[in-house]
Amino acid sequence: MTKINWTGFSKKSYDERLEFLSKHNLLSPDHQDTLEENVLLTIDTANQMVENVIGTFSLPFTIVPDVMVNDKVYKVPFVTEEPSVVAAATFASKIIKRSGGFKTKVHNRLMIGQVALYDVDDVNTASSAILHHKDEILELANAAHPSIVKRGGGARDLTVEIKEEFLILYLTVDTQEAMGANMVNTMLEAIKPRLEELADAPSLMAILSNYATESLVTAQCCIDTRFLSRNSQEAHHLAEKMVLASRLAQVDPYRAATHNKGIFNGIDALVLATGNDWRAIEAGSHAYASRQGQYHGLATWSYNENAKTLCGELTLPMPIATKGGSIGLNPTVQIAHDLLGNPSARELAQVIVAIGLAQNFAALKALTSTGIQSGHMKLQAKSLLLLAGAKESEIPQLLPQMLTTKRLDSQTAQELLAKFREDS
Ligand code: HMG
Repeated sequence: MTKINWTGFSKKSYDERLEFLSKHNLLSPDHQDTLEENVLLTIDTANQMVENVIGTFSLPFTIVPDVMVNDKVYKVPFVTEEPSVVAAATFASKIIKRSGGFKTKVHNRLMIGQVALYDVDDVNTASSAILHHKDEILELANAAHPSIVKRGGGARDLTVEIKEEFLILYLTVDTQEAMGANMVNTMLEAIKPRLEELADAPSLMAILSNYATESLVTAQCCIDTRFLSRNSQEAHHLAEKMVLASRLAQVDPYRAATHNKGIFNGIDALVLATGNDWRAIEAGSHAYASRQGQYHGLATWSYNENAKTLCGELTLPMPIATKGGSIGLNPTVQIAHDLLGNPSARELAQVIVAIGLAQNFAALKALTSTGIQSGHMKLQAKSLLLLAGAKESEIPQLLPQMLTTKRLDSQTAQELLAKFREDS
């Protein structure tokens, strides 16, 4: 595959960007039309997807162009409303690519469902009875969803745990390319009556768990510190401060929440673009961040002074899908999968975790050097002007004035706009 030079992509006009993508065969003529004509989700399709539809809702669809994961380069689609998120991911991915890119690993890819039983007279006898009939229960689960078994997936294992007054059965299922919520819930409801019989107790509920600890993915990268600053002393200090920032997120939940919010700036943007359930990914990851009893920062960084490398690591539950749900219904989601090269669910999960680590790198670098406001607010300035009522055509004249003011806020934007209109 020929190398694409993305330098200056962000400075191109919208039309030039689309032209660039199609010139490099990254966008089919159909997809180019879809984007240019803004052919979004139709009301008819939206009406089939959810209830009480009164319209559709748009967000910017963008691209982070040059993300290297396991030696393969991806064009990563982002859907986000927040200025500077795409710039930060682009900036970080570029530096990380120059340092060898991300290395990732899928630990496993199984979904977990649970059936909770209560009012159990003798939990030990009930547990033994269930475990004694393990093969039969797995067969029952698979019989409830034969199509996934045909595709090579299906129920894999079951375990039982006693937690307070509950006897909980956990079922692990290989859902192949799907996220599998419906599949797992169907299986759980199919085995529920037999479990009640074996435990001689009622069940409270049967449902998939979003705490997907059997779908963990790790991303790592090691950045050459010369990319932090041309001045080696400055680069050294910055690496040390970024490690301290990573430590702070381990010891202080107030900082950990913001540290993780930054990671999800990128993860949510990609999960949303690919038509996946971002609430499920968020819930699972925040539960994972609390697995030791206190909420922690999810990404960590270490500095090897001799090798002059700053190394980051992020592990997350990533039960992502490439089939099922609303994927395939939304035309922009299809473009997102095409831009990524139509990866498998395993491959997509690895790109998503890598993006989270890139986003964290950019945020920590900004926070421990210039501060967040300079880069973020530079890109926020345009939004402030638009919010103040500026027209698109007035932005080119107003933006340079805005960027030289001391106070980048809505009042300044309003004052500048009023003065500009008075003078012209
Ligand atoms: P900079 O060094 O001023 O940028 O950083 P630059 O103008 O020198 O450009 C460097 C490169 O950044 C560019 O290279 C692009 O790759 C990229 P070029 O293409 O020019 O050769 N870049 C852009 N890409 C697309 N569109 C743009 C653009 N501008 C630069 N307009 C930058 C500027 C914003 C990258 C940097 O300051 C940064 O990474 N800041 C962090 C921003 C951030 O994290 N924003 C998220 C919102 S804040 C938040 O919610 C999370 C937080 O609270 C999390 C936490 O606390 O951990 C921070």
